[in-house]
Amino acid sequence: MAVSFAKLVPLFQIMLYLTLLLSLNNGTARITSSFIRTEWPSVDIPLDNKVFDIPKGHNAPQQVRITQGDYDGKAVIISWVAPDEMGSSRVQYGKLEKKYDSSAEGTVTNYTFYKYKSGYIHHCLVDDLEYDTKYYYKIGDGDSSREFWFQTPPKIHPDAPYTFGIIGDLGQTYNSLSTLKHYMQSGGQSVLFLGDLSYADRYEYNNVGIRWDSWGRFIEQSAAYQPWIWSAGNHEIEFMPNMGEVIPFKSYLHRIATPYTAAKSTNPLWYAIRRASAHIIVLSSYSPYVKYTPQWWWLREELKKVDREKTPWLIVLMHVPLYSSNVVHYMEGESMRAVFESWFVHSRVDFIFAGHVHAYERSYRISNIHYNVTSGDRYPVPDKSAPVYLTVGDGGNQEGLAGRFLDPQPNYSAFREASYGHSTLEIKNRTHAFYHWNRNDDGNKVTTDSVVFHNQYWSNNLRRRKLKKNHLKPRV
Ligand SMILES: [Fe+2]
Repeated sequence: MAVSFAKLVPLFQIMLYLTLLLSLNNGTARITSSFIRTEWPSVDIPLDNKVFDIPKGHNAPQQVRITQGDYDGKAVIISWVAPDEMGSSRVQYGKLEKKYDSSAEGTVTNYTFYKYKSGYIHHCLVDDLEYDTKYYYKIGDGDSSREFWFQTPPKIHPDAPYTFGIIGDLGQTYNSLSTLKHYMQSGGQSVLFLGDLSYADRYEYNNVGIRWDSWGRFIEQSAAYQPWIWSAGNHEIEFMPNMGEVIPFKSYLHRIATPYTAAKSTNPLWYAIRRASAHIIVLSSYSPYVKYTPQWWWLREELKKVDREKTPWLIVLMHVPLYSSNVVHYMEGESMRAVFESWFVHSRVDFIFAGHVHAYERSYRISNIHYNVTSGDRYPVPDKSAPVYLTVGDGGNQEGLAGRFLDPQPNYSAFREASYGHSTLEIKNRTHAFYHWNRNDDGNKVTTDSVVFHNQYWSNNLRRRKLKKNHLKPRV
């Protein structure tokens, strides 16, 4: 029987794809991409560009964004800025468009930075929501009010599928816009943000605050409709004594809300959430973390709370990578690695995502926890219990790319490429997740690193037997 060539082509493509996935996941080949990106100007988009448009109407809410508002995904925090006067902190919401049968009252804050005075920054917790439900919401007053919507995640369950986008070091250049647009086409349901948001600290005096505002308007197209889960980077510190500004994270902490109290954290800069089948831990690279500091105590307790029977996927976010073979920022994560790496290995963390280095890199599962100054063990070694380290620090900011890697490529480095882009993590069930690095490639979304990851808790044989016994057997 003749089989047409047209029918064979998709089959061939699938086989090629599977071969590529298997080789990337299990192989030991190290890849340094030869891709050389055509440089777009890595400059910020001018303030009069339409991506920064100010919504029409007196005191119309702007810079609208949401984040998870509790530990388990039944709440959101809705934030916005009222530019002219305080206005109302009330959010009206409901399951039907333009029919708002519920409301919540938020809080308002503002701050100064040099001589810049921020607008009125509102944060409103909307809680007791139903899982897996679309909600519409309305903020602002009278003719200037604005309406948006969001979808709550599925109930916490080990097999709940969910797709996260991963973006770091975004800024507000044309490359940033390309990354944001590509992410919005990806099907991602929530963003894990890896720090370095607006790069407003590259400016001076009143322009710092002005560029925070423009960035808030820039990301609204995504962040008003799905939660962005925040971690802070060095560009959020804004220690600027020459302008009289010496309070670290002043703009960030006024503008960015996190559900840290729900996670029993004492600081918005480190916290945790559970969402669908994932337990996500956010750490602060620029807050104290050595032994006996608040962040150290908190992480120790949070790791005890992780229940892989309920949330199989354990993900850690931080700004500074613990493993990176890029010349830029080399070994800046070494002090945190020395403190926390053994916990991450013993907890069988699935992924550690970081930004900071403006390039992409994926590690093999390796650890260096035997190194203790005197033992003589000096090198990272393959370790099946170790996390995969992923650096996604190239959202597209004005500092440009970090194009120089250590040569030769170290054994721990699986894939590295200096280009702009974002990643997606498609969790399929308790055992499998599809991961993609999507480089912008001069305006076109191109996937260049794709891996099928097996869960660190459920994929060993013992757990699989338990899975078969308890979960896959048909009930009679
Ligand atoms: Fe950074």
